[in-house]
Amino acid sequence: MTSLSTAQTKPANTKSTQTGQNRQAALTVNDAKIEALIKKMTLEEKVAMLHANSAFAAGGIKRLGIPEIMTSDGPHGVRPEQGRDWKGVKGANDAGTYMPTNNTLASTWNPTLGYAYGTVLGSEARFRGKDIILGPGINIVRAPLNGRNFEYMSEDPYLISKMVVGYIRGVQDQGVSASVKHYAANNQEEHRNDIDVEMSERALREIYLPGFKAAVQEGGAHTLMGSYNKFRGQYATENAYLMNTILKGEWGFKGLVISDWGSVHNTMDALRNGTDLEMGTDLALMYKSVDQSAASGGPSASRTIYDQFYLADAALDAIKKDKTLEPLLDDKVRRILRVMYATNMLDGAKRKPGAYNTKEHQATALKVAEEGIVLLKNEGNMLPLKKTVKSIAVIGHNATRENSLGGGSAQVKAKYEITPLQGLKNELGDKVNITYAQGYKIARDQKADPQMIAEAVAAAKAADVVVYVGGSTHGYDYSKWSDNAYDAEGFDKPDMKMPFGQDELIQAVLKANPNTVVVLMGGGPIDVSAWAGQTKSIVEAWYPGMEGGNAIAHVLFGDVNPSGKLPFTFPVKLEDSPAHKLGEYPSTPGNPLKQTYKDDIFVGYRYYDTYNVAPQFAFGHGLSYTTFKYSGLSVTPSGKSATVKLTVTNDGKTAGAEVVQVYVKDEKASVKRPEKELKGFEKVFLKPGESKVVTLTLDQNAFQYYDEGKKQWVLEPGKFDVLVGGSSRDIRLTGNVTL
Ligand code: BGC
Repeated sequence: MTSLSTAQTKPANTKSTQTGQNRQAALTVNDAKIEALIKKMTLEEKVAMLHANSAFAAGGIKRLGIPEIMTSDGPHGVRPEQGRDWKGVKGANDAGTYMPTNNTLASTWNPTLGYAYGTVLGSEARFRGKDIILGPGINIVRAPLNGRNFEYMSEDPYLISKMVVGYIRGVQDQGVSASVKHYAANNQEEHRNDIDVEMSERALREIYLPGFKAAVQEGGAHTLMGSYNKFRGQYATENAYLMNTILKGEWGFKGLVISDWGSVHNTMDALRNGTDLEMGTDLALMYKSVDQSAASGGPSASRTIYDQFYLADAALDAIKKDKTLEPLLDDKVRRILRVMYATNMLDGAKRKPGAYNTKEHQATALKVAEEGIVLLKNEGNMLPLKKTVKSIAVIGHNATRENSLGGGSAQVKAKYEITPLQGLKNELGDKVNITYAQGYKIARDQKADPQMIAEAVAAAKAADVVVYVGGSTHGYDYSKWSDNAYDAEGFDKPDMKMPFGQDELIQAVLKANPNTVVVLMGGGPIDVSAWAGQTKSIVEAWYPGMEGGNAIAHVLFGDVNPSGKLPFTFPVKLEDSPAHKLGEYPSTPGNPLKQTYKDDIFVGYRYYDTYNVAPQFAFGHGLSYTTFKYSGLSVTPSGKSATVKLTVTNDGKTAGAEVVQVYVKDEKASVKRPEKELKGFEKVFLKPGESKVVTLTLDQNAFQYYDEGKKQWVLEPGKFDVLVGGSSRDIRLTGNVTL
């Protein structure tokens, strides 16, 4: 099994994992023009640039030909128009392409699809007249219960880094700026507005920041969104260390920091520490203020709630009193103008028109879903199903539920949404008898419904095959979020169990018909331990976007060979998760507004593999309808890096794709290091019998850890194991290298 070579071959065809170039410099090309423009502005005009003037628009100086900036959510498609006052826009052409959620994208492990995804978003945002799209969300998936895990990508910073770069470039190549969010340490919704997160410097550097750094330096992100929470005692959006020292200092970020909607709390901190543009407000306060000022007709009538923002009248007053603050103001205006230039908003630059609801966009939505769906279990090759099947019972509410409007600010009004039931009908036409039973109901009481179970069991008994479609659910009625939301902004999930009595239902269905495929939908790990052992096939479909139902059918019937891999671990039980076991999720005992991430760098598989806790499904896991053979590993050192070379062969009968994953383990270190860490991967597409040589370069980043004493990354000389395989727990080849 071990194939170790120190062959003196020249590293051929090495693909760099780093571009080496900080793409931020591109933002400064118009700085001379920008300085001239700033000189023409009055103090009042400058301050007017720094804050929202309505729900999603900001700034604008007519006299100088500077337009307003139009922003919009979000990560999975352009959000329905909210209007200037959050009341919507009647008759708006705002039903567009609804992409699979970010965790689906991450599950493809295909950076090329990241770019394609971003291209769709950028193009549709442009069509809708937006300048900044508020996405992607890339916070670490730390706690299984985080209500927003569906908007994020992974528990692993390397995977995030690789996927986010393509996404950002895709958006920005369409002439729209991306806003990477939520910077930083916003890993849960519970107490999100004021929880104070403490973590070690090492955890910050090794786990929580690399995705943002890659987004800035390699992706060239024009804007970043500061998060709601506090970090080490100071709100993240106006946090001197996160914003000034790291982002704008160390990383050389030249663009614009946007606050999350209502995340600024202090004028002086915001002025000094990073926030360049203050957005959002408390809705109740806004309506009250607008109504009152209109009613009174007094002096306040011309002043809106937006003038009461921290970076509005209060900032103006402060700067008038203390002129030495003006350079801070100029810097913010400069950054805003840089982004406006980069987005072709100034000097009458030509802008791309964008495109909406094209066949190509829909095809990208389908492709991402097809490659992102993960085959978790397939005993006895139950899947793919045969199209000669006579009858199918489809059971579960997610089979008929639309998700596009769910989840909070990431909502999209979809042009159409193919549900799983519709997808199966599209796939099979009327040749197969398809029946449907809802099986459970989405309600706060959480109990199984005996009558609905009886109906499901009867349907299951009468059919050749059962396709069960359940799992979590997006809340989409704002007033009922807390009733039904298992993946939604503003709430964490109450537990990791299958909600609404589904465990009981699935067990009854399995008993009635063992030929049952369970298709899960949701934004994170879920506890399937009650029935996973008795089920032959389990498929994770996430929230797969407008073409999701078709993608699911294509995978179930083998038109598409599944190639998705889990971007985070599924623990057996919630209690196994490091955020619960070692950490203090959701807050420090006795102090709901504080939390120390005591799990430190041991997030996800770094914990499960180091502490020998068996997961239900491992990070990187995902099956195929074919099999892959790994052979001929060589690891060749060269200075502080190494070239990893191996051959992967499709030794089955179906064309398919394998994500070859390369993990590094430091054999001996002066600090505690994880059992293994992902440092390279490549998705390889192979016909039956075909082989390909995979060559990956591990640069020094692959071997370093962050030394808190020295305050820098350190490569400790010694021997490193190089582990290659199809998941973090399916290591097929082991080599090593001494550096
Ligand atoms: C969310 C952001 C979103 C913003 C604007 C906030 O509540 O946290 O992700 O972009 O609202 O809708």
